[in-house]
Amino acid sequence: MKVIVVKDYAAMSREAANVIAACVKENPACRLGLATGSTPEGLYAELVGDYKAGQLDFSQVTTFNLDEYRGLDNDHEQSYHYFMKKNLFDAVNIDPVRTHVPDGANPNAAVVCARYEAAIDAAGGIDLQLLGIGHNGHIGFNEPGTEFPKLTSCVDLAESTIFANSRLFSSADEVPRQAYTMGIGTIMKAKKILVVASGAGKATVVRNAFFGPVTPFVPASVLQLHHDVTLVVDEEAASLLEGSVAGSADL
Ligand code: GLP
Repeated sequence: MKVIVVKDYAAMSREAANVIAACVKENPACRLGLATGSTPEGLYAELVGDYKAGQLDFSQVTTFNLDEYRGLDNDHEQSYHYFMKKNLFDAVNIDPVRTHVPDGANPNAAVVCARYEAAIDAAGGIDLQLLGIGHNGHIGFNEPGTEFPKLTSCVDLAESTIFANSRLFSSADEVPRQAYTMGIGTIMKAKKILVVASGAGKATVVRNAFFGPVTPFVPASVLQLHHDVTLVVDEEAASLLEGSVAGSADL
């Protein structure tokens, strides 16, 4: 695992954008796995800036998002479809046909999940998967539990996730109780994984996920078993790691 500690959120966003930009430049037809949440907003802004400066071309890129709330229309302002259009897809030259987000508007979970997993396989798998981390250790919407969910599935959100995400809705009652998410197995099949975390509120989960035991109770901890993970964290999120000053280390 490569750990890159940078000063602040802006530096984290640029550093992570560099990793994604390098992937696109190396293979213009790469398949990116994308994430939502507050953490990646800055890195998407950096990628949009690179595109506008003529340094990045998304015309051949294919994307698969990690997850989507079940029961929200695709144009709902809190849907991840909407988030991705606003933060990236509508601002760059990506072909909408090559962008994929689980269909939260379709209540038929078996169909949505099987189709999504098949689409990832048909595209040839994911080259680089971007991940944020929930405060409870979730990746995608794979919540803490007694086992790792393998493939894309319909999951119940943890109370802690409903609470954390309620900041974006008018009340906690508005937060959907279920989501479609790539499974841990889907995520682990990606060739490379890029994890971003920022702020003191993520310090405990960063330490537990990357330096604690591998356990389904902290789903992100499974990433310790992946052979190509880059973790980009700012100093606050790295503050509980030993020797957490800005710099980079291979562990
Ligand atoms: C959400 C998403 C995750 C995201 C996480 C952290 O619930 N499903 O993919 O990584 O929460 O979000 P944030 O970056 O806003 O802390």
